[in-house]
Amino acid sequence: MQIILENFIGFGPFGVHTVNASWVAVQELAKKSIPGVIIVIREIPVVYETVKKQVPQLWNDVNPQLVIHVGVSKEANAITLEQQAHNDGYKRLDVLKTCPSNNCCVEGADECLMSSIDMEKVCSDVNGSGLKVKAVVSHDPGRYLCDFSYFVSLHIDRSKSAFVHVPPLGKPYTELELADGLEQVILSMLGQI
Ligand SMILES: *[C@@H]1O[C@H](CO)[C@@H](O)[C@H](O)[C@H]1NC(C)=O
Ligand SMILES: *[C@@H]1O[C@H](CO)[C@@H](O)[C@H](O)[C@H]1NC(C)=O
Repeated sequence: MQIILENFIGFGPFGVHTVNASWVAVQELAKKSIPGVIIVIREIPVVYETVKKQVPQLWNDVNPQLVIHVGVSKEANAITLEQQAHNDGYKRLDVLKTCPSNNCCVEGADECLMSSIDMEKVCSDVNGSGLKVKAVVSHDPGRYLCDFSYFVSLHIDRSKSAFVHVPPLGKPYTELELADGLEQVILSMLGQI
């Protein structure tokens, strides 16, 4: 079974230190071995055009059981499980100062797509796991690259796509705590698929 964990890097609006948190946590996670699971990690730059090309390419190359996009959010203070993503309204410029055409992700697609993974269930699994890290559910990934990439994946397969925002390192969790939390997220999601 293959899982893609995709992580956003770049020198975008959050600055390198904040963006670094998700990458560090994902790398910690990749050091763990989850029986029967192969984790494939990719860094994706904060560029609409690249996301639109590379995300479908990854689905095609890896044929994953589950795709979890991971990004950092300054506003997050827990593992934030995103239930849905938006198709329109992408007006914020990426690091190359571009926007998608018509500010849209997939022309003609629905305005909003929901993952068929029940994030409330994943959330209670994380909260009930006895780990230090806690989770919350969100319905707004922020209409930037995170939201955009999630929509690209949801449009490919809603039953296998997820997005997780993590807080910056030390606010309040360490990279090890975040990695433990992400591991629990994966186990819970695999239990639903
Ligand atoms: C990311 O953060 C870790 C831990 O704080 C640090 O060791 C590493 O050098 C940072 N990497 C980058 C690219 O900033
Ligand atoms: C999980 O814990 C967080 C932090 O205590 C709380 O905000 C959230 O509502 C809880 N959610 C569930 C489903 O248990």
